[in-house]
Amino acid sequence: MDYNIAVIPGDGIGPEIVREACKVLDAVGAKYGHTFRYTEVLMGGVSIDATGVPLTEEALAAAKASDSVLLGAVGGNVGQSDWYSLPPHLRPEAGLLAIRKGLGLFCNLRPAVLFPQLKGACPLRDEIIGGGFDFVVVRELTGGVYFGERKTFTENGVRKAVDTMPYDENEIRRIAKWAFEVAMKRGRRVVSVDKANVLDTSRLWRQVVAEVAEEYPQVTVSDMLVDNCAMQMVKDPKQFDVVLTENMFGDILSDEASMVTGSIGMLSSASLGEGRLGLYEPSHGSAPDIAGQDKANPIATILSAAMMLRYSFDLTAEADCIEAAVGQVLNEGWRTVDIMSDGCKLVGTKEMGDRIAERI
Ligand code: IPM
Ligand code: MG
Repeated sequence: MDYNIAVIPGDGIGPEIVREACKVLDAVGAKYGHTFRYTEVLMGGVSIDATGVPLTEEALAAAKASDSVLLGAVGGNVGQSDWYSLPPHLRPEAGLLAIRKGLGLFCNLRPAVLFPQLKGACPLRDEIIGGGFDFVVVRELTGGVYFGERKTFTENGVRKAVDTMPYDENEIRRIAKWAFEVAMKRGRRVVSVDKANVLDTSRLWRQVVAEVAEEYPQVTVSDMLVDNCAMQMVKDPKQFDVVLTENMFGDILSDEASMVTGSIGMLSSASLGEGRLGLYEPSHGSAPDIAGQDKANPIATILSAAMMLRYSFDLTAEADCIEAAVGQVLNEGWRTVDIMSDGCKLVGTKEMGDRIAERI
């Protein structure tokens, strides 16, 4: 089959990690008889430099016209880059929010897996890790406080700012369904995270999740307050299978989840909507301080490409093959600097990509 992939290298380490993911996709194509065609799309700081805005209408249209989107990362150093002296809607991250909204990608899947080969990098004690953990954060991505009305103004000589956090039941229902569907394919346990002791949106969230849960009697569901969840993730991460939550809580908890694995450079993510088209990107950021130095770990992006094959193209064997190749290269002891440990062999971004592509 032929697949058209919109590739957004973005900023910082984005271009170098995306290059390695495309290398691995090409190896998969050669082995299984697929052609992956890439259309490069500008987004983030590079787009600001070239066009004045972080995502042009044409760039969004090109992404829409593709079969799926592979993204590196966007953004620069907040303290240093000129991009951050622009108004908020013209900064690099606004491009990311605009593409999520523009493509209707309301469901963000962020797996948090402890790779057995990298157990040493996990900051948690052995007795907490036990046999390892493997859960996924299902984050609502196009609603809540990220997209509610906001304003900054002066009232009676006092500067004031307001952000609002709207959710309607349809937005909650569709993301809850996704979480239950994902749970059906995994451990059949959903923890729905909210702040129902304070927020109206959370109280509605709880009601709607309970309604959706009735359609999935095989799935065990429970509610957890977000502050408690932040604690439970470091206390006993094994308890989680699917963590369902709204946009901002998901932003925060998914960073925490990736940190407890100890290997943020390994974690992929998928943003999905109603159709087949998705946006796949590593869970980590653009790491401008190491950009262009062949130091970045390309594995999260390579595993994001595997998620693309699995979720957008239904190419299960091909996705399994990428994941197995990554496992093999780790078993052989190859490591980028972020996951390096005693007795292992240090490689750069490009060599890591080469080695994984060779194992396909
Ligand atoms: C993420 C990022 C973004 C978000 C930023 C860059 C706008 O932190 O994908 O988690 O908050 O969604
Ligand atoms: Mg984030």
